[in-house]
Amino acid sequence: MSPARGAACGKVILLGEHAVVHGTPAIASGIEHGAEATAEPSTDGRSTLLLGAAEHIAGDTGGDLCRAFGALLAELPGTPPLRVTAESRLLPGGGLGSSAALAVSIARAVRAFDGGVHAIDDARILAAASAWERVFHGNPSGIDTTAAALGGCFLYTRAEGASPLALRRDVWLAIGSTGTSGSTRLMVESVARLFERKPDVKDQTLPAITALVRNAALALEAGDLQGLGRLMVLNQMLLAGLLVSTEDLERMCNLARDAGALGAKLTGAGGGGSMIALLDAHDEDQAERAAARVLGAWRSAGYDGLLARISAQPR
Ligand code: MEV
Repeated sequence: MSPARGAACGKVILLGEHAVVHGTPAIASGIEHGAEATAEPSTDGRSTLLLGAAEHIAGDTGGDLCRAFGALLAELPGTPPLRVTAESRLLPGGGLGSSAALAVSIARAVRAFDGGVHAIDDARILAAASAWERVFHGNPSGIDTTAAALGGCFLYTRAEGASPLALRRDVWLAIGSTGTSGSTRLMVESVARLFERKPDVKDQTLPAITALVRNAALALEAGDLQGLGRLMVLNQMLLAGLLVSTEDLERMCNLARDAGALGAKLTGAGGGGSMIALLDAHDEDQAERAAARVLGAWRSAGYDGLLARISAQPR
């Protein structure tokens, strides 16, 4: 019997990361690259997760992956001992929701293995993925797991979840990797500490990011790329004020803008990881030409990147 399969996409946050943890809105989109998992019966009575070359036993106290895998399975009723394999195809360096994509793909592979016996619905898949994420990220807003499960482009708040955005046109991004990874947990904790130490920073930053996000939603729905680019640049300045940007991220943003990008900012938790550059493009040909300029500028400075489409139509 062939193993049961599950897949999930990665994500970019277009605007509003970090602030979203504190209750304000953010905009995210699924991206094609993501994670895949398989599930089949275990032969030794234990549930194991094979990730790369390493094996993790569910619930073992040996490491975060064992605990996360155990926490995920505990949310999926009636799961027998399974042998699960998982693989992420996301750029190394973080920021693109690799952990959430792995969690959702594993939960979906378990559901496919279950074959409908326990009626595992989408809410349960999200609950299982959130249990996994809490092990790594402490206080996740839920935007990463929502993007991994939902795909498409949406406005998100902790209180209300996702509202899909009706994009006027496809949006093209160059996604760049600094080649270093930041810890989401540490970055989220450092912003929380900053807000505690300096409540005035919190009081000024959260409403400002809220306004940028709301305007960006309007720009996306109107197809206003120039406006969206300007809002991304302002969001990057506010993120730098929260001390989550790095020299590499700032350098990559400048390189992208000098190469013609309409806006550029870090995406995800920062402290390393990935950034996005909005391309001045209305179709795939223009996007490829614009991406070649940005990716070329990054490459000559030693950074990797790829072209991604944020689709107006759910794909
Ligand atoms: C991480 O991709 C996004 C953050 O806002 C954390 C979260 O929302 O859980 C930094």
